[in-house]
Amino acid sequence: MCGIVGYIGKKRDNVETLIDGLKRLEYRGYDSAGIAVIENGGIRSIKSTGKVAELQQKILADWNHHNKPDTSIGIAHTRWATHGAPTHDNAHPHIDDTGRFALVHNGIIENYAALKKQLQLKGHVFKSETDSEVLVHLIAELFDGDLMQAVAASLKQLEGTFGITVISLDSPDSLVVARRGSPIVIGVGDEESIVASDVSALIAYTKRVIYLDDDDIALVSAEGIEIRNIDNVPVSREIAKVDWSSDAAEKGGYEHFMLKEMYEQPEAISNATRGRLDRKMATGMMNGLGFSPKNLAEINRIVIAACGTSMHAGMVGEYYFEDLASIPTEIEQAAEFRYRNPIIEPNSLLLAISQSGETADTLAAVREAINKGATVASICNVVGSTIARETGRGVYLHAGPEIGVASTKAFTCQVTVLLMIALKFGRNRRLATEEGVRLIDEIENIPALVTEVLNDAAKIEEIARKYVYAEDMFFIGRGYLYPAALEGALKIKEISYIHAEGYHAAELKHGPIALLEEKVPVVALANDIPGKDKIIGNMQECKARKSPVIATATVGDDSIREHADDIIWLPECSKYVAPIISVVALQFFSYYFAKLRGCSIDQPRNLAKSVTVE
Ligand code: G6P
Repeated sequence: MCGIVGYIGKKRDNVETLIDGLKRLEYRGYDSAGIAVIENGGIRSIKSTGKVAELQQKILADWNHHNKPDTSIGIAHTRWATHGAPTHDNAHPHIDDTGRFALVHNGIIENYAALKKQLQLKGHVFKSETDSEVLVHLIAELFDGDLMQAVAASLKQLEGTFGITVISLDSPDSLVVARRGSPIVIGVGDEESIVASDVSALIAYTKRVIYLDDDDIALVSAEGIEIRNIDNVPVSREIAKVDWSSDAAEKGGYEHFMLKEMYEQPEAISNATRGRLDRKMATGMMNGLGFSPKNLAEINRIVIAACGTSMHAGMVGEYYFEDLASIPTEIEQAAEFRYRNPIIEPNSLLLAISQSGETADTLAAVREAINKGATVASICNVVGSTIARETGRGVYLHAGPEIGVASTKAFTCQVTVLLMIALKFGRNRRLATEEGVRLIDEIENIPALVTEVLNDAAKIEEIARKYVYAEDMFFIGRGYLYPAALEGALKIKEISYIHAEGYHAAELKHGPIALLEEKVPVVALANDIPGKDKIIGNMQECKARKSPVIATATVGDDSIREHADDIIWLPECSKYVAPIISVVALQFFSYYFAKLRGCSIDQPRNLAKSVTVE
């Protein structure tokens, strides 16, 4: 998704800082990039389609040493096309007709066509097909000597979402930033400030950050920050401290972020569980949930809302809450929840799951649930993210930054956290102490089991190599391994661009089996947990249609051998942990499959790390 960086200060090379920030946002997915700076009473801008490296080349060629801008204020952007193709003209920053204002925008302006028409009637000439350009013309139109007020007046006319940064020749010592539904974070430095749409762009420069709330507008200079709401009333936002190191957001010797993050899983899961298991009471201790035992007992229904990989984690959670706590639970694609007029009762809990904490549909589901009077809580990774703040209660993953677009460690940590929450709910109800203790033992053992899978990566690579020809693939599972099958198929789709589908193994017969043939491998999750005997039958059905079968199976379970062409052996564990270690194996399978096919792994085509538009 689009990325924003802005810098003001004299401490470092402005252009290099902006480009460095854009590079740190590359993982979010984009298809063009641009930069604008103020210099000698004018705005200079360069834009380019393609990667930030291409923009950098252009800057080197056009702004060479003799012509290098002497500037202390600038903005930069990576654009992921929504309105208009990824062309030079559509790339940001957008500059108004007078050349006095430049703007970068994330989000979508829904009423842009009507605004554009009005502005055209007033003589504004548009250079792009984007919705974003409307805003810079509107700000220029409404400017009356105070940039912050012009921005506020313009934003009042907008329908939709935005995270913006604006510079103006009339205000050369400050950037103006604002947000509604699309994140903006301000890094507070020493005689410098850096703003961005994502904290990873600025942690190399400062760990002190301010997260803006919706409809906040900030005037950011090198010396200080003034924040008002859209009605021009001053508001104060606290400075938070980011605990991620800048190394954590770099590759650290791994070929890809995705690989690094897959290897980080044992540590990430340990961090997610640290201090959260109470052996004495045989329960989970998640203080951020803020539920008293009485509050917990009153919750009689859970609705989980999430998208993508987080939704698959939520599906596992559905099983946990029903099995361990006997609470009726539903998982909802977050966009469906919002538009389906959901039934929310006074004792319903809406649990939002989001790695980034910024996914537009998940956020909208949270707001809808709050509006309907539900109790809301979240499981997020990014501290201070919008969903985490708006839900007010929840559990952070503490998984460290996840940069690879294909989510990996967030999934395994989300599932682990869900298991701990279900344990807490379960112990509040019928789950016996011994069962609680047994679960704690299992949870504490997850990092060791995941490490065993990591140690077998080379074997998984060999299997992936054998099937690298495949253009279609099916993933099947049952029970706890059904969501794992969906997640396995999603991983393959995301990074290797082949057609892969995840199905409940029983559903295979109801249509998809028509597609099976010798060039269509089926990955069957046949670990030794309840459902295994049935899935063996499904594997036989696949073999009878000549599909090669790749199985996951539990070490020592020789009964699988005769039904599979290849087997990824996994350590023995309970049904609760099986989806976690199976997905780790499928992450490796997908990673090697994509790598062997020469695909771009960290920035897969068309995908965005965080989808902040509907
Ligand atoms: C995008 C990403 C996925 C992610 C999904 C939900 O589609 O590419 O990897 O699972 O958004 O993101 P969230 O941050 O809400 O977990």
